[in-house]
Amino acid sequence: MKEIIRKLVEAWGPSGSEHQVRDLIRAEVEPYVDEIRVDGMGNLLCRVGSGGKTAIIAAHMDEIGVMTTFVEPKSGYLRFTNLGGLLHSTMVGGRIRFEDGTIGVIGVHEQFGASRTSVPELDDFFIDVSDGADGNNHIAPGSPAGFWRTMEERGTRIIAKSLDDRIGCAIAIEAIRRINKNTPNTLYFAFTVQEEVGLRGARTAAFGLNADVAIALDVTATGDLVRNSKMTVRLGDGAAIKFHDTGHVVPNAVRSWMVNRAEADGIPYQREILTLGSTDAAAIQVTGAGVPAGAISIPCRFLHTTSETVDMGDVEACVKLLVGLTSNPITL
Ligand code: CO
Ligand code: ZN
Repeated sequence: MKEIIRKLVEAWGPSGSEHQVRDLIRAEVEPYVDEIRVDGMGNLLCRVGSGGKTAIIAAHMDEIGVMTTFVEPKSGYLRFTNLGGLLHSTMVGGRIRFEDGTIGVIGVHEQFGASRTSVPELDDFFIDVSDGADGNNHIAPGSPAGFWRTMEERGTRIIAKSLDDRIGCAIAIEAIRRINKNTPNTLYFAFTVQEEVGLRGARTAAFGLNADVAIALDVTATGDLVRNSKMTVRLGDGAAIKFHDTGHVVPNAVRSWMVNRAEADGIPYQREILTLGSTDAAAIQVTGAGVPAGAISIPCRFLHTTSETVDMGDVEACVKLLVGLTSNPITL
């Protein structure tokens, strides 16, 4: 599974430009699904099985990034706006990658002055894409870009950019393969676009499917950092079953369905109550006449940085829980 995770996290796909990730996922899942299509927003919808209850399983393909707004006339430095929740405190020296492969480096005004101890505003930053030739660059305003880092491993930990939410995509792909069309339910795996800019893809992905239940797969924060954040989730303690986040109160029936499955199958799990952030499930639950929704969350340290960290034991627990939930008859 690690090789597919590496391909996914090192792929290029800032919000609104998910096509490379979509092509990669399509190639991985096509032999294992009954139907595959792309909707008007760009979501990749894969059906597995028919009959029984209908479930949507959503994982977002996009990653946080930037879009260039303006080229400084003399210096050629690029100014930019955010695509999703950029953490200003992590950006100086960050590497940016454009679709054509150009690598830019983020600089900040007064790097060793005021910016050293206070968090700069977005318009204090700029991107250097000079190539030493004519001092100019060929990146036009309106160009999207993602952050760039390669994946690293340390024991059972995986350290990479975009684990939010390519690890969710990897879990969905692995589940599709293990299910191998053996399910009494109708499963729609939705690889969604534009989650990081406001859960936009998930809204159209759920349209017209009349789902009986939805599950989002996404990363969640952990409460095991130096100053404890009073969150119960810990890296390495298993799949996190969502109970609540800022956009989503998980219905009792859905969380019990997940907890009972984990207990029946002996899968390590923990309760997730997240006080900042949400997932595609929050958007799907309010589509149509309403869809009962829950989420399987992957504990992740250093969220929204280029060194997001997950544990492969948790990832395996999430795959097992998802396969258990979707390959047994859904009785909700
Ligand atoms: Co995110
Ligand atoms: Zn996410």
